[in-house]
Amino acid sequence: MGTVLIVGAGPAGLYASRKIATAGYQVLILNRDIKPGGLAEYGIYPEKHHMKHGLRKQFSKILDLPNVAYLGNLPVREKGILTIDQLRQLAPSAIVFSVGAQGTKKLGMQGEEAKGVYSAKDYVYYYNQLPPFASQDFSTGRRVAIVGMGNVMVDIARWLLNDMPGPKPEEVTVVARRGPFEVKFDEKEFDHIEMCLDRPTFREELARVAERIRACGQDADKVAEKLFPWVNRSAGASGGPKLSFRFLTSPVAIVPDANGRIAKLRVVENLLVLDGQATKAKATNQTVDLDFDTLIFAIGDVVDPTLGLPYEKGGYLTRPGAPDTEAGAYEVFDPKTGNALEGQYVVGWARKASEGLVGKARYDAEHGCDHILKYLEGAPRKTTLSLQEILREVARPAAHLATKEDIILLGRAEEARAQEANRPAFKFSTNEEMLAAIEQQRASFRDISASAA
Ligand SMILES: Cc1cc2nc3c(=O)[nH]c(=O)nc-3n(C[C@H](O)[C@H](O)[C@H](O)COP(=O)(O)OP(=O)(O)OC[C@H]3O[C@@H](n4cnc5c(N)ncnc54)[C@H](O)[C@@H]3O)c2cc1C
Ligand SMILES: NC(=O)c1ccc[n+]([C@@H]2O[C@H](COP(=O)([O-])OP(=O)(O)OC[C@H]3O[C@@H](n4cnc5c(N)ncnc54)[C@H](OP(=O)(O)O)[C@@H]3O)[C@@H](O)[C@H]2O)c1
Repeated sequence: MGTVLIVGAGPAGLYASRKIATAGYQVLILNRDIKPGGLAEYGIYPEKHHMKHGLRKQFSKILDLPNVAYLGNLPVREKGILTIDQLRQLAPSAIVFSVGAQGTKKLGMQGEEAKGVYSAKDYVYYYNQLPPFASQDFSTGRRVAIVGMGNVMVDIARWLLNDMPGPKPEEVTVVARRGPFEVKFDEKEFDHIEMCLDRPTFREELARVAERIRACGQDADKVAEKLFPWVNRSAGASGGPKLSFRFLTSPVAIVPDANGRIAKLRVVENLLVLDGQATKAKATNQTVDLDFDTLIFAIGDVVDPTLGLPYEKGGYLTRPGAPDTEAGAYEVFDPKTGNALEGQYVVGWARKASEGLVGKARYDAEHGCDHILKYLEGAPRKTTLSLQEILREVARPAAHLATKEDIILLGRAEEARAQEANRPAFKFSTNEEMLAAIEQQRASFRDISASAA
């Protein structure tokens, strides 16, 4: 029935694979990382063992399907060992791009390249042990600013305040362009860090912005009742790192010290103004320098512009104006011809960067696949290479690819290490260690089978 290539094995790519494989097509997944799972493996908070375990179980069932093949450690890039053009030349029945949002949103500020300034995605990859981030310098100091107030901010603050090994920061400050009524995180997530919220400082901050938020009909006295119930509860024993907020504040420049590390964050004070039913920040001309030695941007991501798909304003192009109910919203669109690129689709965070939970990525992928399967039913027959031929072509230039059998061996090796250390989970943090562990497992199975024969 033809082969469909799925580029990216996060939740979107894996659920798309299941849907397409279940309809009878051969599926070949090509994934940048050795391990499948994407942000479910390398983004979701490390302590969420139950959730991660449940997702891994579902993903391994998908990889177990007889008509699903997997090659990990194989990034597709515009200028790399495997390009989209090469994939097109294999004449697959369709290509589904489920590569997530791997680009960094930059604010274009002076000093953004200073040491100690990180994007949340990279930082989260670091503490979730994704190579090569796991081995890079993500040192944090005593005073950390996190820009943005979504769930990613909460995860990072939780790591810094509760779980990071080594010395923790003394202060973590959330820098938010709008006010307390515009927080985007979930209360149950904030529960993990509320004990660190510096109550008196938070009340002072509410008083500082009270007048400005009143302009939008918001009452600072209602913040505790409506959004921050923790403020009126005791914080328990004090003495640990402190969490505070600075509302109505936008970064405008980073001032480095003599070593090139961030020393100050220059911010502008914002007003809060109405924008239809919503609110938006409006910069004043009042700036102030705040002392920070670390800055993490948790403001959402964009897609990777170097993949090689038509790209504009942080996203891959799909048919302009197409609603999500129509195929056009998933078809890759070429602005040069004004047509969709036949048989090429985007799903999940590759389609809508940084939007929603795993369940949403799954829904998006499965819904997109309804359109893809319709296309496949009516598509002209192609002389697609066989899976074996495709595997030979794709694997030829690249070394050390991981197959789905290798992923099972890696899983066993990591499980054994977790048991040895009496920990709920263990991860190798370099590709070399993962590949060596796979080899070791393979060798020990060879030995067992030889001695049994
Ligand atoms: C810090 C953080 C914490 C989160 N916590 C939760 C949570 O607790 N609960 C929840 O439900 N949701 C959570 N989410 C949201 C969830 O992770 C996403 O909804 C989901 O992972 C998006 O799936 P995706 O497959 O579209 O992208 P991703 O998960 O990003 O997967 C993309 C895949 O594509 C691969 N890839 C990338 N580039 C290439 C390339 N060029 N070639 C080949 N392969 C490539 C990557 O290796 C990866 O496997 C969190 C997100 C973040 C950022
Ligand atoms: N535990 C979990 O369940 C979990 C964990 C992590 C992530 N997730 C999910 O993953 C998705 C992404 O999360 P996220 O936290 O990255 O995104 P998010 O929820 O959209 O929050 C982004 C934050 O960054 C701010 N921001 C955006 N652009 C900015 C700019 N240019 N300057 C200053 N501030 C800016 C936003 O402010 P404005 O509101 O003013 O735009 C907002 O406060 C969400 O759906 C989230 O729920 C879930």
